[in-house]
Amino acid sequence: MATTSPSNAHPEIDIEQAPTPRPMRVAIIGAGRSGIALLDVLHQISTIEIIGITDKDPSAPGLRRAQELNVTTYAHVTDLIKIPGVDLVMDVTGDAAMLTALQEQLPPEVDLISGQASRLFWTLVQHESTLQTELLHAEKLAGIGSFAAGIAHDMNNPLQLILGLAENLADEGDLDAVHAQALDIIDAVKRTTAICRDLTSYSRRTSLRQDCLVGINGKLDEALKIARYAVALQDIDIRKLYQPDVAVKGNPDELLHVFVNLITNAVQAMEHHGTLTLETSAEADTTQVRVSDTGCGMAPDVQSRIFEPFFTTKPPGKGTGLGLYNIKNVIHRMNGSIGVDSHIGLGTTFTLTFHDESVAGERSTRS
Ligand SMILES: Nc1ncnc2c1ncn2[C@@H]1O[C@H](COP(=O)(O)OP(=O)(O)OP(=O)(O)O)[C@@H](O)[C@H]1O
Ligand SMILES: [Mg+2]
Repeated sequence: MATTSPSNAHPEIDIEQAPTPRPMRVAIIGAGRSGIALLDVLHQISTIEIIGITDKDPSAPGLRRAQELNVTTYAHVTDLIKIPGVDLVMDVTGDAAMLTALQEQLPPEVDLISGQASRLFWTLVQHESTLQTELLHAEKLAGIGSFAAGIAHDMNNPLQLILGLAENLADEGDLDAVHAQALDIIDAVKRTTAICRDLTSYSRRTSLRQDCLVGINGKLDEALKIARYAVALQDIDIRKLYQPDVAVKGNPDELLHVFVNLITNAVQAMEHHGTLTLETSAEADTTQVRVSDTGCGMAPDVQSRIFEPFFTTKPPGKGTGLGLYNIKNVIHRMNGSIGVDSHIGLGTTFTLTFHDESVAGERSTRS
């Protein structure tokens, strides 16, 4: 199974990693805002290994983030930079004394980025993160187009009902019947409002919600409801193999988006008939979500490119090719990995794996 995963967390087969013999080993000095941004971006890149981070302030927020990402934290700069095999030290403290100390202590084979250079890097990192957000939004907006037919259908039914009831009411003299029909109208309006609510929150530019414990089974069900607007599910058998109480820590809106995309891809691959299987499982420190279809499957050369931005096999105007690219980014930000197992003519399984810190320890507060 081909898998993409953040480099230093899980040494699984990694599509991005294939041509590189040894990852570049980077040490980060400074665990403030810049340190966190560096951690978040660098740990997603399979050719970079973050060997550690340090800050003189033990409560610096980047040290906590490092622990979440399984990056080792050091109390003293000297302990970090003496680790053998460091290729690059990134100093984001902005402290002139730190720069002088590093210049004196670092062996000549270790490169140092500091001062303006590290500020430039920080700007690039912020730019990359803005681009990722923009691409996620671009793909959502493009997707909404394909939802239009489904939405129109689902809105039309209650609207027709409201029209019929309102026409009856115009001639209705019996007060009890008027009350009953008014209640039916209220129900129908609530149904259309629910459709609008689902879709407006789905298409929002950025999530308003924080990371929290997300009940995966409920999210998959919600995703099915939304995917229904984009793809026809009538002739698809849906099998749910849910282990009860499976939850991971993450952003509920982003996870919903991930599941909608995987389900949409699966149904599109089956061309209107087949079996969609949604499976969840949890062990001590690992949670897995599997979305399988009995669709067309993928040839190895397609499989090796599906996580690239804008890669699509759909005709022009039909797909952005951003779905799986965005999914990969979301899952990597959660320090999880995404794997694919596909066979031409038989079908495809996407497996999401969440480890340790993103897996629920306690399963109480749920979104
Ligand atoms: N379940 C699947 N079965 C077979 N092929 C798949 C499956 N999921 C993805 N693919 C392949 O991966 C490609 C990239 O998928 P991705 O979701 O990134 O973009 P897309 O589906 O082409 O476009 P969009 O998501 O904007 O509709 C698809 O064009 C398709 O070739
Ligand atoms: Mg897609």
